[in-house]
Amino acid sequence: MAYNLLKGKKGIIFGALNDQSIAWKVALKAYEEGAEFVLTNTPVAMRMGELDELAKATNSKVIPADATSFEDLENLVTQSMEIFGGKFDFILHSIGMSPNVRKGLSYDNLSYPNFQKTLDISAISFHKVMQVARKHDAINCWGSVLALSYVAAQRTLYGYNDMADAKALLESIARSFGYIYGRDKKVRVNTISQSPTVTTAGSGIRGFDNLVDFSERTSPLGNASADECADYCITLFSDLTKKVTMQNLFHDGGFSSMGMSYRAMTQYNKSFECDALDDEEEIPTEW
Ligand SMILES: NC(=O)c1ccc[n+]([C@@H]2O[C@H](COP(=O)([O-])OP(=O)(O)OC[C@H]3O[C@@H](n4cnc5c(N)ncnc54)[C@H](O)[C@@H]3O)[C@@H](O)[C@H]2O)c1
Repeated sequence: MAYNLLKGKKGIIFGALNDQSIAWKVALKAYEEGAEFVLTNTPVAMRMGELDELAKATNSKVIPADATSFEDLENLVTQSMEIFGGKFDFILHSIGMSPNVRKGLSYDNLSYPNFQKTLDISAISFHKVMQVARKHDAINCWGSVLALSYVAAQRTLYGYNDMADAKALLESIARSFGYIYGRDKKVRVNTISQSPTVTTAGSGIRGFDNLVDFSERTSPLGNASADECADYCITLFSDLTKKVTMQNLFHDGGFSSMGMSYRAMTQYNKSFECDALDDEEEIPTEW
């Protein structure tokens, strides 16, 4: 059901690769809610992915850009302003990639050039996007800039590798730039810390399926899906959240506030073949 939450709003959406991508779902919902936007991804991703299909479905233009390239971002922002006939209202940064994860290098055996690429692609690009947007005074007052993060920024989760450092930096950039952009232009900057979600980027993480299962069992509300993440993004682009800024907003079914749940404990106990209760059994009230 649509609520016209983004009627008249314009924006740029980074990171839709295929129909599993969180950015893909955000684009579909933003369109449903009345937004007009430009889609962007790297030229390589555009060749591999299905972005044209999404552009057709959402009546939007596609402008290629590598988010680590200042030149590409300049071109993206100025061309978008031409398409929109002026300023726009929101940006979604839905970008993540670690060459170390891709190559299976463990955290204690990182390649440093790769590590720098991880940080550049997954975090510093967020700063670059905002620096370019601000330089061109591209975002309207009460606009909203959003990036996607993960709880590994705060807690160590096996297999997340140098992406954890990238996410910590990403969240810090949201606070630091959020102060400046809010003070000068009333633009808000936030990150959403999303549950593990089955996408191309997510599935690259070692032990990803187990991570999904563990957080599903640990979270009282269960994992948040990509569609649910898109719903949350829409609220953050809408005028209903004008005073929310410099926040890392957990969208994870409660995972980040949990230690151990009954369901996770039951599964854990099963591995010792002790008197574990079956998953299906009713949860005793004292738990
Ligand atoms: N999937 C998960 O479990 C999960 C959980 C929490 C947060 N996130 C975050 O959500 C965001 C979106 O990821 P996703 O899960 O939808 O996966 P995805 O693979 O669909 O999206 C990642 C995107 O990043 C793009 N990208 C990579 N390098 C780029 C560059 N140099 N310039 C521009 N774009 C580039 C890719 O082309 C791709 O479209 C990422 O920031 C990811 O870390 C994902």
